[in-house]
Amino acid sequence: MTPHAPPKDIADWRKRPVGEVIDHIVTRYHTALRKQISEVARLAEAVHSVDLPRRPGLVSPLLEKLTVLSEELTQHMVKEERLAFQMVRAAAGFVGVPLAVMEHEHRLAHDLLGELRELTGGWTPPNGASPALCELYTLMLELEADLGEHSALEDDLFARARADAERKVASGF
Ligand SMILES: [Fe+2]
Ligand SMILES: [Fe+2]
Repeated sequence: MTPHAPPKDIADWRKRPVGEVIDHIVTRYHTALRKQISEVARLAEAVHSVDLPRRPGLVSPLLEKLTVLSEELTQHMVKEERLAFQMVRAAAGFVGVPLAVMEHEHRLAHDLLGELRELTGGWTPPNGASPALCELYTLMLELEADLGEHSALEDDLFARARADAERKVASGF
């Protein structure tokens, strides 16, 4: 690995400056997630017209949950970029509440993805699914894997920021 190649493991990211971790999260994960969310919306439109009339029991809750997930993740990234990451970068002393909110939202997204996984049988397209529905499932597998890495990296970053802040407060700074 060259000195500038991004590490693969969270344990290695922990040794990097927080600003570098945040830059990586935004360029690698937020950029990809925004693209994935817009692709989900595009495919959901096609699925709505082709698959919804054939399988309303599956497709109706699927599209509803995907809309909620997309909206929540979009707002979550804005909150991170405008507030949480700024506080971590500035090594603010009182980061507890905003970071706890971000961590709570990670758990909500995780739970919603769990519901989606259950609904779709682990993203297994049903017989006769349209190409758009198959593509949507493949995309969601990718989004889910990325989000797992993304949230794990952030949870670790936030835990580190909280520990730093607590040390600062304890030492009277
Ligand atoms: Fe994020
Ligand atoms: Fe996050």
